[in-house]
Amino acid sequence: MAITIAPVLEDRRDDAIELAVLCFGEDYRNAAIKDFGAAYKEALYQPRTLGAWDGEKLIGLIQGMNALTYGNVECLAWLCVHPDYRGRDIAKTILKAAEDRAIRDRFHDKPGSFILSADTGPAYYNALGYEGSLMHHGDVAYMIKIYRP
Ligand SMILES: CC(C)(COP(=O)(O)OP(=O)(O)OC[C@H]1O[C@@H](n2cnc3c(N)ncnc32)[C@H](O)[C@@H]1OP(=O)(O)O)[C@@H](O)C(=O)NCCC(=O)NCCS
Repeated sequence: MAITIAPVLEDRRDDAIELAVLCFGEDYRNAAIKDFGAAYKEALYQPRTLGAWDGEKLIGLIQGMNALTYGNVECLAWLCVHPDYRGRDIAKTILKAAEDRAIRDRFHDKPGSFILSADTGPAYYNALGYEGSLMHHGDVAYMIKIYRP
């Protein structure tokens, strides 16, 4: 079955939490509950979560976060793919879908920047066009990609 990219709505937030914990580890459970759980209800921290779907099964994630998003800057986090589905360009496809959405809905085709929270080594993000890491927020490093139309 083809993999499709579509928003993760609130009724599937538990699937998002479990996939994030599977990919990042049990230490991230509280952060995942905070970001994917209560966050659906907090206007200031409202996630715009996109998923990769194999039919009804959620197999990939990315979250657009308002917390660090302002002007033509889009902050993205929780990029992950189920272990059984890795190495098939799914992360690349999810990230591009999130970037395209920001370009269309927020940047309105003007220049902007993407900031991606980067728990993994830079090599992975370099492969996706990101550079850095330029800034730190707690234990998390961020990498950046400039969009020029
Ligand atoms: C990192 C992760 C999202 C990659 O998912 P994926 O769907 O297998 O990645 P893709 O197939 O889309 O690969 C995209 C590119 O990154 C490269 N890549 C993938 N994993 C990599 C790694 N661990 N290190 C370096 N490069 C990597 C691929 O070779 C590919 O590059 P290419 O287009 O030049 O060939 C997945 O392994 C994962 O969920 N890991 C655990 C969570 C995590 O660390 N997420 C990162 C956000 S903090």
